[in-house]
Amino acid sequence: MPQATFHFPPGFLWGTATSSHQVEGNNKNNDWWAWEEQPGRVINGQRSGLACDWWGGRWREDFDRAKETGQNAHRLSIEWSRIQPAPDRWDEDALDRYRAMLRGLHERGITPMVTFHHFCNPLWLAERGGWENEETPALFARYVRKAAEALQEYCTLWITINEPNVFAFEGYLEGLFPPGKKDLKAAFLVFANMVRGHALAYREIHQLQREARVGLALNIRPLHPAGPLTFLDAIPARIGARTFNEAFPNALVDGKLRLPTRTVRIPEAVGTQDFLGVNYYTLDMVRLNLLRPSEMFAERFYPPGAELSDTGFIANVPEGMFEVLKWAKGFRIPIIVTENGVEDADDHLRPRYLIEHIHQVWRAVNFNWPIKGYFHWTLVDNFEWERGWTQRFGLWGLDVDTQQRIRRPSVDAYAAICKQNAVSYETVEKFAPQAVPRMFPG
Ligand code: FCB
Repeated sequence: MPQATFHFPPGFLWGTATSSHQVEGNNKNNDWWAWEEQPGRVINGQRSGLACDWWGGRWREDFDRAKETGQNAHRLSIEWSRIQPAPDRWDEDALDRYRAMLRGLHERGITPMVTFHHFCNPLWLAERGGWENEETPALFARYVRKAAEALQEYCTLWITINEPNVFAFEGYLEGLFPPGKKDLKAAFLVFANMVRGHALAYREIHQLQREARVGLALNIRPLHPAGPLTFLDAIPARIGARTFNEAFPNALVDGKLRLPTRTVRIPEAVGTQDFLGVNYYTLDMVRLNLLRPSEMFAERFYPPGAELSDTGFIANVPEGMFEVLKWAKGFRIPIIVTENGVEDADDHLRPRYLIEHIHQVWRAVNFNWPIKGYFHWTLVDNFEWERGWTQRFGLWGLDVDTQQRIRRPSVDAYAAICKQNAVSYETVEKFAPQAVPRMFPG
């Protein structure tokens, strides 16, 4: 069996990604907390509660874990509702707390990447119509400026908005996120306002900090026509990809947000992206289905025979990572994998999922595509939105009642990769033996 080591370039960022509401606990002043209080919104009535208790200080021990296992970067988000608890009030203590966290990362040799918006809105903003309100982009930019001013000493790598496509889709089409609407027009309005908010925030950050690198984290989900009449299935697949995957980043190139119903001109968005953040988890097959007008005549499903995660939420298709990176390189700016991971409580799949996806990143790196880092979702099990605590994405498990962290084998698999800045034959053989014939053919 031929052996090899798949090396990454010096300085490659290896980290994990988290978000404030999912890890901090007691985020009582945002729309998600209120949503969790409504019956039927979160599976089994589960609540974020204390989450991973980072607001109580447990970020320290979790950052130690990241450091000890060779991670040199961490992506976290800050909570708008804590920093601006009311429209006319800034909370300097909250900013101090975030400053301490970022300093804590630096002290551990970990480069921070800060996300300003990861699905949650302050309650006061939600009450004013959230992202449907045309004033929200400017309000967002004001908050971003305030927060970036406070944190710029410790951070140059910024994400304005996490997954605006998922936010609009889940909150305004599927109705699974607050505000729970099923209204295509509202979804497109929110989408457009998020482009505007991003563009304004981009400029605010650059005014403050010349060396800033500002981008987005987009959920990119390849859509493959299913067949057998592939040419017919190609139509909904293409419309879906253009809208869900491509509309937002394309608008930042030419100022045109192309929605299926119309094109919205947002000239101020042109050139407001220094890198492209991609979140890749899985891909879908698409079939034309004329009985589903509300889903734009598309039926989506996983490739037949694909290996599925614990609850069937994710199909393990590592080649999709390569496909996404190939698409991303078309933007001719640096690329960062800002999320990738799988829910897997007993860790039977994660080590292989992790290794095979990173192998695809390596393939892309070897074509000299400008990929600068990989952030695994996530460090410790955390509150998984409407799916509550039923999905376990952590390298470490979490006992929600005792706050105890449980080390999964994936911790060591990822540590070996981060520490060697490479995927070695030994790592694959030890943690993902089933992948050996695929990764080392011959
Ligand atoms: C992404 C979200 C993140 C987490 C993972 C599993 O879509 O950005 O918060 O829920 O999925």
